Amino acid sequence: MAKLHVLTSDGTETILNGDVDTSVLEIMQDAGNSDLMALCGGCCSCATCHVYVDEQWLSAVGAVSEDEGDLLDSSDHKKNNSRLACQVKMTDALDGLRVMIAPED
Ligand code: FES
Repeated sequence: MAKLHVLTSDGTETILNGDVDTSVLEIMQDAGNSDLMALCGGCCSCATCHVYVDEQWLSAVGAVSEDEGDLLDSSDHKKNNSRLACQVKMTDALDGLRVMIAPED
């Protein structure tokens, strides 16, 4: 199990427990968090699971794939710490990861 901190734009923080090898999106959905539309169901084809990774965790979450990067480029709210929640898999090293939900496009 690994802890995932989820912040909404109004500053509300929720701490979730998720299994390693589970995506950030799946952990949020399993907890009943519906703040992300995730229209494609985690297939990396919609960009509606956009989150910002806390800067201190950026290197730990790894690199953005080409497909993920292309989708993020389509967002008006893209930042250097943007990721798609369906493409970030929890690991033991990510225990305590903090993400903020990005505004909808
Ligand atoms: S849920 Fe569609 S890209 Fe992540």
